Amino acid sequence: MDSSSSSISSSLEILIATSCVLVVSFFLLKIRQILAKRNKLPYPPGPKPWPVVGNLPHLGMAVHQSLAAMVKTYGPIIYLRLGSVNVVVACSASIASQFLKTHDSNFSNRPPNSGAKHIAYNYQDLVFAPYGRRWRMFRKICAVHVFSGKALDEFRYVREEEVAVLTKALAKSNKNGQGSPVNLADLLNVCTTNALARVLLGTRVCGDGEGYADQKSQEFKEMVVEVMVLSGVFNIGDFIPSLEWFDLQGVASKMKNLHQRFDAFLTKIIDDHKINAASNENCTGSKNSDLLSKLIGLKEDVDGEEWKLTDTDIKALLLNLFTAGTDTSSSTVEWALAELIRHPNILAQAQQELDSVVGKDRLVSESDLNQLPYLQAVIKEAFRLHPSTPLSLPRVSVEDCEIDGYFIPKNTTLLTNVWAIARDPSMWPDPLRFEPERFLPGSEKANVDIKGNDFEVIPFGAGRRICAGLSLGLRMVQFMTAALIHGFNWELPEGQVIEKLNMDEAYGLTLQRASPLMVHPKPRLEAHVSLYVGGTTGVVVVGGTTGVLIDDGVVLGGGVVDFVDGVSWSLLMVVMLVMEFVYQLHIHNTFTTR
Ligand code: HEM
Repeated sequence: MDSSSSSISSSLEILIATSCVLVVSFFLLKIRQILAKRNKLPYPPGPKPWPVVGNLPHLGMAVHQSLAAMVKTYGPIIYLRLGSVNVVVACSASIASQFLKTHDSNFSNRPPNSGAKHIAYNYQDLVFAPYGRRWRMFRKICAVHVFSGKALDEFRYVREEEVAVLTKALAKSNKNGQGSPVNLADLLNVCTTNALARVLLGTRVCGDGEGYADQKSQEFKEMVVEVMVLSGVFNIGDFIPSLEWFDLQGVASKMKNLHQRFDAFLTKIIDDHKINAASNENCTGSKNSDLLSKLIGLKEDVDGEEWKLTDTDIKALLLNLFTAGTDTSSSTVEWALAELIRHPNILAQAQQELDSVVGKDRLVSESDLNQLPYLQAVIKEAFRLHPSTPLSLPRVSVEDCEIDGYFIPKNTTLLTNVWAIARDPSMWPDPLRFEPERFLPGSEKANVDIKGNDFEVIPFGAGRRICAGLSLGLRMVQFMTAALIHGFNWELPEGQVIEKLNMDEAYGLTLQRASPLMVHPKPRLEAHVSLYVGGTTGVVVVGGTTGVLIDDGVVLGGGVVDFVDGVSWSLLMVVMLVMEFVYQLHIHNTFTTR
């Protein structure tokens, strides 16, 4: 080899070596930068995740309870890895306020999930819409036409009529003290569903017109509850994307099936409405125009642009309002009444207040509510101990942020454990005790409201994605509870004692009672009062839904349940490891290990 070629080859070697050093240095630098960033701020504490499934096995059956129990070990901000998804859980008022107030704009989206995809028209609804134009349009429509003070007042007569129907049904069930016990949840559900349906659609959708449940109301309630239950299941496919296709729990297929039934129900209602509008009929005798009539043909101005609603937009919105607005309210009333039955002194005091304000010769009306501070305290206490969505609805961060000195990366799902927050012993003396007095003037929590301003009790969430139906939900819960306790004394079925009334929780997205409240209502007003029913009736017939809607696999009480039914755990782990490994090779995963 001559000297010139040897010098070329040595230059080449130097070049290659230099390049290698540069590339390695670059990567080392990057890794150092990432580590330095992470080292500066630690992640919040949390249980050690398992390979692939992460902390999913730590969630147990009642997720809100398992997460609340972790506070003792890890404190009020807990970091989890569920499959490949980063999750942070807020379990104290101060942490929740940092997420939902200080960093609200960063957490104003919902994370992707199969419910939004398969049930809620592929995110075309309000609840799961990304924070932006579409979401603003839906919120504006609801705020103006359904939840504003003016809209609520316009439809007050509807709620009063439906509550009167409920009262009459309860009075009739008594049958001179000989009747069989009433399943209160069924009747409450008919009441809330019809009160809402008459505002949204201008017609009742369920019940026999006398306040009792019928097959349709049963099916409708089951559809709503199934939405809540399915949405509350921690679906493996949402957390381990490589397994989404396998639908191990059968959740996605149940969601698709449910979507079809709900869609058929809503399509028929819209078609009927268009026909009725064309023939200028109003089958219900509604005094005011319902939301659906307003939505059909509505052209909204959103951010300076005109937005014409499609049938899918309308169906997605109605689906949200029915599912978010019925079971939440009726189950809260059921919990409230169960607490009052367990605490006869509190019930007596609330009845005394009602008697002194309303008397005994008429039904309570919505306009009385402002003069009933003790009743309002009872309702706050019921919301505190039994928030209908114990983990609120999830949010997701759009960028990295710092909360309470911890690093929260972008794309982290936020769960706000409103159930644990409202039972925090450092904020609530004797937190498990049902004690409305804590909200009365002169008491420590006298000025605490439940509308998203005081983070120690936030049953409706907080921040810009706070419950859209707060005003209606709160009014409905207060009014129904007032009517129940003013109109009746309550007895449990023979053989049951109040001390042993089952207060266990079942878990879906909403907090149901594990066993329904069965009761004997004993009218306490003049007979002519509780048997009075004003207004008009009109029940729309919506066919096509049959069968047992909550079948095996996903049942009330299911959190992370049954997802390995019939498959051995170890075999599944191997399959999951392989699938996840293959998946990670192809897809960029934003997660960085703790
Ligand atoms: C007892 C009654 C109710 C409770 C406890 C309740 C609770 C909640 C909670 C915790 C959220 C999530 C808030 C957040 O992310 O911070 C929510 C959202 C929502 N609720 Fe309610 N709710 C109730 C009644 C209603 C009613 C009556 C309606 C409508 C008829 C309704 C419609 C909605 C909608 C549309 C959202 C989504 C808001 C958005 O993403 O912007 N809710 N609700």
